[in-house]
Amino acid sequence: MKFLCPVPGYDRHFGITAQFGIEMIPIPMDENGPDMDLVEEYVNNDETVKGIWCVPKYSNPTGIVYSEETVKRFAALKPAAKDFRIYWDNAYALHHLYPDIDVDIPNILEECEKAGNPDMVYQFASTSKITFPGAGIAAMSASEANIEEVKYRLSWQTIGYDKINELRHVRYFKNVEGLSTHLKKHADIMRPKFEATLEMLDKELSDLKIASWTKPLGGYFISFDAMEGCAKKIVAKCKEAGVTMTAAGATFPYGLDPKDSNIRIAPTFPPLEEIVTAVSLFITCVKLVSVEKLLEG
Ligand SMILES: Cc1ncc(COP(=O)(O)O)c(C=O)c1O
Repeated sequence: MKFLCPVPGYDRHFGITAQFGIEMIPIPMDENGPDMDLVEEYVNNDETVKGIWCVPKYSNPTGIVYSEETVKRFAALKPAAKDFRIYWDNAYALHHLYPDIDVDIPNILEECEKAGNPDMVYQFASTSKITFPGAGIAAMSASEANIEEVKYRLSWQTIGYDKINELRHVRYFKNVEGLSTHLKKHADIMRPKFEATLEMLDKELSDLKIASWTKPLGGYFISFDAMEGCAKKIVAKCKEAGVTMTAAGATFPYGLDPKDSNIRIAPTFPPLEEIVTAVSLFITCVKLVSVEKLLEG
């Protein structure tokens, strides 16, 4: 059994898939989302391909938003496997850094239905990054048939879900406007941190041609690509100097980044002053490791 894994991607998706013993196939992404020619080739011809992980909006870690065409091509897939499903993890659906910039994507459930594939997708969301990680609530949307099946399975997995916490969320947010208003407050906290990080990267690295990085309009991460063979060394050097980052390689299935170049930057948690210190240290490590590599070559 195989799953397609757009890369770089979310380490937990890959961890879950690995735990179930499912083979993972990396799929490259560009600014419009996964390489759809490759996705179609696998899904439409290989019946051992049973799923694909997607973070369609402000993807983890790139911040990429899937284009309208990408979403429509997903909905129009003609899977060789009858039980193929798209795992549409819309974890950052409302997590705009610039709430006035509209980055809406088509509704995958509606598109799948229009394309005659109503049962092909499960869409997920959660308030982990809206209220509290580990104390939020999760949501899933899918066709009636899929919801029936999942409800049956969940009824064996969970006897007593946290109804009080669900009620707390409903009373606090009330409706989707309540959620959006709350997320604007998050954006006000996060925007300066992203902007400070990006400004420093731009100022210190953009002329050197030793790295590239994404400039997301939402989500939680910046995806940074160093020169080939440098990511592990950079993350290790940062750690030695006191800045712990997500392990290099974690953004790829099996932790194997074939180029050893991708690093996930999460400028969300530390206060602004600490971010400035941490990013300047990161930049120094990038420069040191890159110089070593250039001298070697
Ligand atoms: C894409 C994605 N999905 C899910 C989650 C976690 O959500 P939950 O805590 O509800 O499992 C994260 C958190 O980083 C994420 O980036």
